[in-house]
Amino acid sequence: MSAKTYILMDPATGKKIELKARAGSVGPDVIDIRSLYGEQGLFTYDPGFGSTAACESKITYIDGDQGILMYRGYPVEQLAEKSSFMEVCYLLLHGDLPTAAQLEEFTHTVTTHTMINETILRLFNGFHYDAHPMAMVAGVVGSMSAFYHDTTDIMNPRHRDIFAHRIIAKLPTIAAAAYKHTVGQPFTYPRNDLDYGSNLLHMFFAVPAQPYEIDPVAAQALDLLFILHADHEQNCSTSTVRLAGSSQANPYSAIAAGIAALWGPAHGGANEAVLEMLEQIGTPDRIPQFIARAKDKNDSFRLMGFGHRVYKNYDPRAKIIRTMTHKVLNQLGKADPLLDVAMRLEEIALQDPYFVEKKLYPNVDFYSGIIYKALGIPTSMFTVMFAIGRAVGWCAHWREMITDPEGRIGRPRQLYTGPARRDYVDVGKR
Ligand code: SDX
Repeated sequence: MSAKTYILMDPATGKKIELKARAGSVGPDVIDIRSLYGEQGLFTYDPGFGSTAACESKITYIDGDQGILMYRGYPVEQLAEKSSFMEVCYLLLHGDLPTAAQLEEFTHTVTTHTMINETILRLFNGFHYDAHPMAMVAGVVGSMSAFYHDTTDIMNPRHRDIFAHRIIAKLPTIAAAAYKHTVGQPFTYPRNDLDYGSNLLHMFFAVPAQPYEIDPVAAQALDLLFILHADHEQNCSTSTVRLAGSSQANPYSAIAAGIAALWGPAHGGANEAVLEMLEQIGTPDRIPQFIARAKDKNDSFRLMGFGHRVYKNYDPRAKIIRTMTHKVLNQLGKADPLLDVAMRLEEIALQDPYFVEKKLYPNVDFYSGIIYKALGIPTSMFTVMFAIGRAVGWCAHWREMITDPEGRIGRPRQLYTGPARRDYVDVGKR
């Protein structure tokens, strides 16, 4: 079907402006406004980019009204049930599900690159013991651009592959080193005989003083959580990676920028904020006062883990994690009163007219912290766990941006409402 044409008319002159629409394979059409400023001297205005397509992408599709999330066309529900995080990494990076041989080779490559340079390890000694793990991880990942000079040709496909493999392989090791630094324990090296989730648990919780037995339920839960966090279209941190990478900066520094953006409580930092909120609520009987605060325009408090820029329906990831939370807690033989608070909070909020009218549903961060807590991961590490899952999405989008034939350095404009031109006044005359 030929592309639609939208007509914009200048009311002052009656001059008509034709703007072509472009259709995607699924989802809303876009209006191509690239010629708007050059030909008409007009900008568009969209703070937060809620109605703006910043790029063309083939990686992930979200339908916020239907609660749909697909990685390269595969529904996340099917991947959560049938795939593995290594397979999803290959899918996001290369566009198709791998053959058995391709998956084996990819997994071997990631597994055999999990160690980090010993001089990177020494960087952790520069942090105070109570440094926030996200600050340490962002800093150390950024420092990788100081270590790897052998693969900085971003136009070289092999260099781009090696960069992605290093980020996916080494982020859990860096995360574990940050955790060990905060608890004053010796760093635990990765093991090549362990799968991705098991290796992370080993590096986090093994100590020299005694054997550590990995719980397969915990390892499988981590693998599923990484699948669910792997990518999410043009979210804040991914857009940050794309924008930072568009200057052709070192890709490790672009990922570090993404980690920094993810840290915010409005974004990936929400999983940590959800646990703190649930602990602040404490018991179900205190829920109404917190819901009242969330509705109070004069109170900055928000129900963390609720609401989403895109999902105006239940976040499909939250649904899966909600079910998984019960299963993991039962399998681990653990009960958590905060889960009772969370379930009751969800039940009350989803009946409250304020939340119903504003379509504020639980998002991916609402339940994930309860599982991380059940696995023994401290609250301060929750957003680091999100970063580990999302790193492959950042790498996939960075590669797509770098190889985009229409790609240009990102440079938005603005609506200027500051002072008109005025002359300097000497201090004695002010
Ligand atoms: C993630 O983009 C992604 O894809 C992100 C993510 C990913 O995978 O990358 O999905 C991960 O970041 C999930 C979101 C985690 N953040 C939180 O849980 C923090 C709490 N949520 C809010 O801060 C908020 O809902 C946002 C940031 C998630 C969305 O903000 P928007 O789209 O800018 O929406 P908004 O702030 O304009 O809110 C619309 C209305 C406002 O009321 P009005 O001004 O219209 O009267 O809803 C209200 C808000 O006050 N509102 C809330 C609320 N979230 C929005 N009120 C109470 N509690 C909340 N949580």
